[in-house]
Amino acid sequence: MVKICCIGAGYVGGPTMAVIALKCPAIEVAVVDVSPLRIDAWNSDRLPVFEPGLDAVVKACRGRNLSFSADVDRHVADADIVFVSVNTPTKTRGLGAGKAADLTYWESAARAIADASRSDKVVVEKSTVPVKTAEAMERILAHSGSDVAFQVLSNPEFFAEGSAVQNLLCPDRVLIGGWDTAEGRNAVRALMDVYAHWVPEDRIVTTSLSSAELSKLAANAFLAQRVSSVNAISALCEVTGADALEVARSVGTDHRVGDSFLNAGVGFGGSSFQKDVLSLVYACECNGLPEAAGYWQQVVAMNEYQKSRFVRRVVSSMFNTVAGKKVAVLGFAFKKGVCDTRESPAIDVCRGLLGDRAHVSVYDPLVSEKQIRRDTAAAPAAKVEQVRVARDAYEAAEGAHGLCVLTEWDEFRTLDYRRIFDGMQKPAFVFDGRNVVDVGKLREIGFVVYSVGKPLDAWLEVLPAVA
Ligand code: UDX
Ligand code: ADP
Repeated sequence: MVKICCIGAGYVGGPTMAVIALKCPAIEVAVVDVSPLRIDAWNSDRLPVFEPGLDAVVKACRGRNLSFSADVDRHVADADIVFVSVNTPTKTRGLGAGKAADLTYWESAARAIADASRSDKVVVEKSTVPVKTAEAMERILAHSGSDVAFQVLSNPEFFAEGSAVQNLLCPDRVLIGGWDTAEGRNAVRALMDVYAHWVPEDRIVTTSLSSAELSKLAANAFLAQRVSSVNAISALCEVTGADALEVARSVGTDHRVGDSFLNAGVGFGGSSFQKDVLSLVYACECNGLPEAAGYWQQVVAMNEYQKSRFVRRVVSSMFNTVAGKKVAVLGFAFKKGVCDTRESPAIDVCRGLLGDRAHVSVYDPLVSEKQIRRDTAAAPAAKVEQVRVARDAYEAAEGAHGLCVLTEWDEFRTLDYRRIFDGMQKPAFVFDGRNVVDVGKLREIGFVVYSVGKPLDAWLEVLPAVA
């Protein structure tokens, strides 16, 4: 019986291993973590990760061939294949701060494998890491002092939050990078055999180690770049009277371009895009490629511009001041369907408004009050009483001067905007950062509406331009 151990019971490790256990009943899968609290949660009825369908998968396998444990050494020692799925956040200090990936957790996992192993193992990088990290992993493992043989593979994860289980069950591709040696090919084969339980062979792509590592960063950078590209077009649409939605639809019908990831909005968020683009920028810089670094840096710069442009639009529309005014914020998660707020544009928009002394009243169907307070706490000079967390959209909007839509939750499409209008101060402003509202209908009701990438409201056109 093949035994798999996964170091790191996080957003990636937990769901990925649960699906492997589901599809491979003859493989024993142990997920380990340094955090006993995380492990307790995985062993409880309240999983630490919210993903549609995940509860059912975990319930079907836990206690059968899926276990969660804080005993890292024992499970690493027992395993034939060890996945490393630890967090690799952006470094906040030291060399490469603000761009380079922080490999502290990754290194401690590598050392744990080196120390605990008594038999040969295939070690699989699941975490998103800088290109050539596998070679660094090999150097750590080679100095384990034992004669255990390790083969390192790269097998990045591509699922998106909110659709993790569905993406894992039916992936566009499974990417496996390894060395082109007899041992390397054997290791790749062993991992292919795991995925072959449910993934058609033509969807399992094999490459060199470095290509696999770089492909993950490149895939996220390409997706982020599409969003920044359409956002750059959205700024031009607003001042020229074009509509970004129509432009995106026209551009996307060309099959060479494709129609996904072309929704203009208040900017991209999430734990991956910015982190991975910056990691790519850093790799280019370190390898003496300033022009390539500058190109990718601009994807992040455009995203920052889009968020600050939105804040400036809100403030300038409301007579250049929001001080003391109530602004309703609908949506706080970085996208619909998740409770995750990491790098959510809503955080930056709220901080911008709070910095201008607005009072924000936030409503999100999934994000907890604790999380909203934590994320807004660091706003410059903001006072606790400037932030309210509302139970629904109507409460958030009651008495507000303006309303910002910052996550594309479906329920925001069908709100009773007449009721909201009646409860708001006049003129009542709506700033739609996600193309959710029906601009024409809202204007008929009497709102002054700004929607990213749409021709400006006549009211807004007379105001000073927002650069
Ligand atoms: C992303 C990748 O899609 C996934 O393959 C990778 O493994 C992890 O990173 P995720 O972060 O879950 O997944 O979110 P995604 O759905 O890609 O959206 C990222 C951000 O881009 C969100 O804030 C979303 O609102 C924004 N976005 C996306 C747009 O603004 N416009 C679009 O057209 C698409
Ligand atoms: P990701 O989104 O990449 O899955 P998370 O932060 O959700 O990242 O999860 C990473 C997990 O890895 C955390 O639960 C963390 O406690 C765990 N972890 C980090 N370093 C180690 C380590 N050396 N050994 C075991 N677990 C680790």
